[in-house]
Amino acid sequence: MKLAFIGIGKVGFALANNFQQSGHDIFIAHDDVTSNSVLRAQERNPLFQAFPIQEAITMADIIFLAIPFNSTELLLKPLDFGNKILVDCTNPVGAGISHGLGSKVSGAEKIQEWTFNAKVVKSYTIYGFENLENPVFPNYGVKPVMLISGNDENSKAVVRTLNSDLGFETLDVGDLSQSLHLEHMTLLWVKMVRANGHHPNFTWAYLER
Ligand SMILES: NC(=O)c1ccc[n+]([C@@H]2O[C@H](COP(=O)([O-])OP(=O)(O)OC[C@H]3O[C@@H](n4cnc5c(N)ncnc54)[C@H](OP(=O)(O)O)[C@@H]3O)[C@@H](O)[C@H]2O)c1
Repeated sequence: MKLAFIGIGKVGFALANNFQQSGHDIFIAHDDVTSNSVLRAQERNPLFQAFPIQEAITMADIIFLAIPFNSTELLLKPLDFGNKILVDCTNPVGAGISHGLGSKVSGAEKIQEWTFNAKVVKSYTIYGFENLENPVFPNYGVKPVMLISGNDENSKAVVRTLNSDLGFETLDVGDLSQSLHLEHMTLLWVKMVRANGHHPNFTWAYLER
């Protein structure tokens, strides 16, 4: 598939690089295709092509959003997503590793509100980028789980397939309003790892009897 990335920093690059290696075409979406992160990503993976944001969206099958949450509203509002899937990889993080929207509403629901013609699925947010760079845990009989949420079942099915390409098992936790709980899971992981010294390559697993 053709995958466009708005944001090609730590998260965007980790995902795009693994997707490229599993056979997908990667378009970096940036209105300044000479920005540092774009050039650095292309240096690390010369198969990435860069285009202005709307052009990349129009050419892509699926779009990934991996920029700081505070920049999303302004960036998203003028764009037309052409009824495509927008994978929300962002997290609204506030002072002291708190929820950036005061735990009243999820960032993913705000992103759905700010986009025209997009089917938003939240994924790839419950861990740090280290587990997106390498989601393989060969010493265990289970795969790491990736929790996703969204309002459109078909879109979530597509994201499930992409998760498998990376090595994750998918757990669909429900509609987009569930994203608030995923964003709190992020805060838990971030506090454990970035503040309390847990290893950045730990993940959650889903066991069901
Ligand atoms: N870091 C993690 O472990 C982690 C894990 C899961 C989710 N997240 C979430 O993922 C998102 C990205 O985090 P990150 O750590 O990957 O950040 P990062 O390394 O700082 O990269 C941010 C990327 O966004 C681009 N960007 C920023 N503002 C932009 C704008 N207005 N228009 C177009 N591109 C813009 C930057 O491009 P230029 O600077 O070159 O313009 C850069 O490519 C955040 O919402 C974060 O909360 C982070």
